[in-house]
Amino acid sequence: KTLKIGLLPADGIGREVIPAAQRVLESLSSGPKFEFVHLDAGFEHFQKTGTALPQETIDHLKNECNGALFGAVSSPSHKVAGYSSPIVALRKHLDLYANVRPVSSVKSASTPNQKELDMLIIRENTECLYIKSERQEVDPKTGLKVAWADRKISEYASKRVGAMAFNMALTRESLRQQKPESERFWKHKPRVTIVHKSNVLSVTDGLWRETVRGVKEQNAEKYAGVDMEEQLVDSMVYRMFREPEAFDVVVAPNLYGDIISDGAAALVGSLGVVPSANVGDNFVMGEPVHGSAPDIAGKNIANPVAAIRSAALLLEHLGYTKEALQVYGAVDKVLSEATILTPDLGGKSTTSEVTEAVLKNL
Ligand code: NAI
Ligand code: MG
Repeated sequence: KTLKIGLLPADGIGREVIPAAQRVLESLSSGPKFEFVHLDAGFEHFQKTGTALPQETIDHLKNECNGALFGAVSSPSHKVAGYSSPIVALRKHLDLYANVRPVSSVKSASTPNQKELDMLIIRENTECLYIKSERQEVDPKTGLKVAWADRKISEYASKRVGAMAFNMALTRESLRQQKPESERFWKHKPRVTIVHKSNVLSVTDGLWRETVRGVKEQNAEKYAGVDMEEQLVDSMVYRMFREPEAFDVVVAPNLYGDIISDGAAALVGSLGVVPSANVGDNFVMGEPVHGSAPDIAGKNIANPVAAIRSAALLLEHLGYTKEALQVYGAVDKVLSEATILTPDLGGKSTTSEVTEAVLKNL
């Protein structure tokens, strides 16, 4: 079978790490063949052409591609007329309602103090504060500005991402069962942790909590093998830093999930190693969790691991688990040997050298 994969490197180090991921996919000896389609998107494209996400890109993805890999986009912190983030728009156009972010540690001699963890963060990807319904007014009493943002939590979106969390907990467990017991990191019953702040936001987070809990309660038999627990988002952060080994699958509304997963990245050494996949019922797009990293762009020192793992995650979600495991294994070997690492992990090697090392292991 030939898979048609859209490649959207977009901005900054996206242009360095996506080609690395492409090379890894091309070098797989088994599994599907690949046909890559190079597509435009990003802030630099916007500056050149006035559009950040050409209609042609959307059409290609929708009508021709089996999946895609996205690099990173530079979004300015101030408002730029006519610009809005293409990644947010793509998630919407393709209905990629869950952002799936596995964060796991790799043992190595160079990081003896690193905490051990193997968690999967599932971030709701379509609503919460990121619906970007904001406005500003002047408070007539004080004459000073007031800014407002709406936050949307729907039963529909909470339910489908909740179901994904419980399903992924079962999938992870079945993959673990294929490993010898000594190699399994998680030794408990699969667990889904629901993150919220419904003690304060009882209407929005209350609906989120109730709906995700309902997924298990209404499918008691199907999910009997999965434990469910809850964590308030602030104590989630605290516990995650103190005992990250206590988490298996974590499901969170958009904003909390965004923040928690960058925090989790710090626990495994660098944003440069954490992958994600934007998943919908009909499409999947791999995407490293990191941004365009303008501070290191163009120097061939960006860590390609997050992008390479995102390509593996893409394969996994397209049903090619065996090939995905090969890629994870090849990457883990490079990380555990710890001789060829980019500067973010304390090494001196380049993007190309790390990529070569992964290819050699494959
Ligand atoms: P960032 O993730 O680009 O960088 C944060 C820090 O991590 C920087 O010091 C960077 O050098 C380092 N870093 C990130 N990825 C790395 C890699 N692969 N290898 C080595 N070091 C790496 O986040 P920042 O600086 O907050 O944002 C920069 C730009 O990226 C902004 O325009 C922001 O809007 C955008 N961004 C885009 C995202 C996306 O495309 N989904 C996500 C986050 C930020
Ligand atoms: Mg983020």
